[in-house]
Amino acid sequence: VSGRRVQPPQQRSGGAARGPAPARRCAFAVLRRVFEQGAYADEALRAEAAGLDTRDHALAMRLSYGAVQRRGTLDHVIEQLAERSPERIDAPLLAALRLGLYELLYTSGAPAYAVVADAVQLAKQGAPAGHGLVNAVLRRAGREGSERLLGGLDDATPEGAALLHSHPQWLARMWFGELGADQARALMAAGNEPSEVALRANPLVPAGERERLAAALPVRSHGDEALPEAVVLEQPFDAHASPLWEQGAFMPQSRAAMLVARSLAPRPGERVLDLCAAPGGKTTHLAALMRGEGEIVAVERDRARAGVLARTAQRMRAGNVRVELADARALPPQLQGFDRVLVDPPCSGLGTLQAHPDLRWRASRAGIEEMAAEQATILAEGARVLRPGGVLVYSTCTISSTENERLIAAFVDRNKDFSVDDLARSAPLAGGLARARTAAGHVLTLPHRDRTAGFFIARLRRA
Ligand SMILES: C[S@@+](CC[C@H](N)C(=O)[O-])C[C@H]1O[C@@H](n2cnc3c(N)ncnc32)[C@H](O)[C@@H]1O
Repeated sequence: VSGRRVQPPQQRSGGAARGPAPARRCAFAVLRRVFEQGAYADEALRAEAAGLDTRDHALAMRLSYGAVQRRGTLDHVIEQLAERSPERIDAPLLAALRLGLYELLYTSGAPAYAVVADAVQLAKQGAPAGHGLVNAVLRRAGREGSERLLGGLDDATPEGAALLHSHPQWLARMWFGELGADQARALMAAGNEPSEVALRANPLVPAGERERLAAALPVRSHGDEALPEAVVLEQPFDAHASPLWEQGAFMPQSRAAMLVARSLAPRPGERVLDLCAAPGGKTTHLAALMRGEGEIVAVERDRARAGVLARTAQRMRAGNVRVELADARALPPQLQGFDRVLVDPPCSGLGTLQAHPDLRWRASRAGIEEMAAEQATILAEGARVLRPGGVLVYSTCTISSTENERLIAAFVDRNKDFSVDDLARSAPLAGGLARARTAAGHVLTLPHRDRTAGFFIARLRRA
């Protein structure tokens, strides 16, 4: 969508009387919800984009997600051009500046005058005064261009990479330390790109047979040699509005997320425990792999989310799923002796920065430590109720060794009856995904390398 040309005013409705382009109006409202009300960008977009056509929806998404993700770099430029700290600029004016600047510096196609004119109008609608600042800063940015304004930034150091790729400094330092400079730089650059959009075909309903599903979709797609259920989309698609979604034919899910249930590899007829299960993406995948035979106990603590999970299972004809409203840190006594256990606890989500633009600005080092303590408790509880000889998979959608490699190493160290099962031996790591195997035999997918979300998966076996 980047670079789509926005029609000049005179072709739209005859000149000065026109309002801002619908996609910009929507993106501006999303930015205000995110930065002034603390909303999640994806939810804000869903609320604000009602009524937009597919093109405008895609453009609004590109502009709003991009401006939220690039906030760090944009504020640096704003500070230079406005000669004042962004904190001292009225919120609606700042939103208009970030939006206009993002479009001028990171997209091509729309004429600069239209970008500036719309940003000024949006600023006027949001604040009684101060739109002169928006006009002056954006005009100057348009004149100077991205090469002059951004060309001097470089990512040689974590601090430089944080500024150039618009991530918080603590995160840049953490990734430089854990992944090495080259991987960290590439990962941060990828964090500003659109995310993979993939569907998992659900063979539990006839319309969900993979080839039939791909043929019925209104958009182009391709498959993945390692994941026969994957349908990777090549064009925008409103999955939740599709009748195929209602029929349970698919689940929107990254290929990395699909690797999780594949790594547990449940067999029909087994008893499987799924901890932290809502909204049910992996639960229903497990059910499909088990062809609906056997039992899946899906544990979720939040009542409303447990309801969503039950409805998802029903829609996807996952008849062997039983939802249990419980706390995975202290399971009820009747839950024990499982053949396989999936532990998919809440995590910092740093593997999903493409799809969750505001997440990098919410996450923190302290948050990671807190999460890890909870993850370790849930893992221990899942391990306790696994039968001898059983298999446990621990997964997160984050890239932080505190929540991943180090947590598993500490667990295996303390629990001598558990050992790491090398995931290279399991089917889903064929083809391109073979690169995702770590030295310890776990899986770590990286968005820049594997073109999917960043997931960590460890498989443990009980003696
Ligand atoms: C990462 S999401 C799980 C995603 C899910 N496995 C899927 O594939 O769709 C984490 C879920 O765990 C739930 N949760 C958090 N703490 C929990 C706990 N102590 N016990 C049970 N569920 C918990 C949250 O409400 C949330 O729904």
